[in-house]
Amino acid sequence: MMAEKGGYKHFMHKEIHEQPRAIADTLRGRMLLSEGDVHFDTWNLSLEQVKSFTKVTILACGTSWHSGVAGKHMIESLARLPVEVELASEFRYRDPIVEKSHLVIAISQSGETADTLGAFKEAKRLGAHTLAICNVIGSAMTRESDLHILTNAGPEIGVASTKAFTTQLVTLYLLAVKLGRMRGTLSVEGAQEHLTQLAQVPKMIEDVLKCEPQVKRVAREFMNAQDFLFLGRGPMHPVALEGALKLKEISYIHAEGYAGGEMKHGPIALIDEKMPVVVIAPKHPHVAYEKIIGNIEEVRARGGKVIAVIDEDDTQADTLADHVIRIPAASALLAPVVATIPLQLLAYHVAEMRGNDVDQPRNLAKSVTVE
Ligand code: AGP
Repeated sequence: MMAEKGGYKHFMHKEIHEQPRAIADTLRGRMLLSEGDVHFDTWNLSLEQVKSFTKVTILACGTSWHSGVAGKHMIESLARLPVEVELASEFRYRDPIVEKSHLVIAISQSGETADTLGAFKEAKRLGAHTLAICNVIGSAMTRESDLHILTNAGPEIGVASTKAFTTQLVTLYLLAVKLGRMRGTLSVEGAQEHLTQLAQVPKMIEDVLKCEPQVKRVAREFMNAQDFLFLGRGPMHPVALEGALKLKEISYIHAEGYAGGEMKHGPIALIDEKMPVVVIAPKHPHVAYEKIIGNIEEVRARGGKVIAVIDEDDTQADTLADHVIRIPAASALLAPVVATIPLQLLAYHVAEMRGNDVDQPRNLAKSVTVE
């Protein structure tokens, strides 16, 4: 059994460490650097079709929904197409507006989630063009869609999704570049710059995994906390949501993910000296760095304990937080991939220290095939 887990105690831990390889597999053969373009071997959309899209709707649940929220930032920024991210479990039950000019994207690790599949079929019935981003070849969603793109993460066994999430983010980034090129919102040089950055991600993930000893120290200090708050702005907001979900799923500690600017609208009331707050604060004007520093100060002023995920060369947040976890600096749209890794490790080590069944958390199934 240990051999199956590659020497790791749990599949989840193995899968966290597999991410450099998984992301390299997602990228393989798809980046046409000299042309400043992206190649998907399943791609079947004409230039005319892509130019006719007026809106993208993303349908997903759980972790896959979080990657959809990050994907919205990527597609809107690079392809200048408005994107709505819908909870698939809600979509069918409220007379959704779907038109022929809409591209509807389902994101799913398994490709079998009943809520997402149901919503996806409904969108197709209403006339949208459908695209499935899945990890499992031949899954129901890949069969139901007009077009599918595989994330190529390899089998994910741990119920808590890790490499499926980061490979979804990278796939969405490639898709955003592809749509941007076809719609003419991204120049060849612009696309080349994005692809060059993408090519560096596997190495960056290898580097960020080295923060594990520091994350373990943080896990030990806070393993008995009752609640956690995760804060992030802009493209870091879905990272905060994902960090909180991961911790809830396997440690059973209550956690909330919030957009930093929303803290003063409610969750600030929860903060006292027992409350650890994970602030995801890479240094980008895009993610309103100065504002997230303001969040750190607000938490500290109320006695809360700040764990800040910051760029390796950041000296400002360093002096304000109780603990810092340093990550390699990445562009604003790529930082979610890098910043997620310490949060996966935090959830993993807290759960492991609490003696929980990490790979099979209570009440959860790997793939939710019932509504
Ligand atoms: C992730 O850690 C969860 N187990 C869960 O939220 C999952 O992402 C969700 O059920 C969607 O699954 P899918 O990606 O296979 O559709």
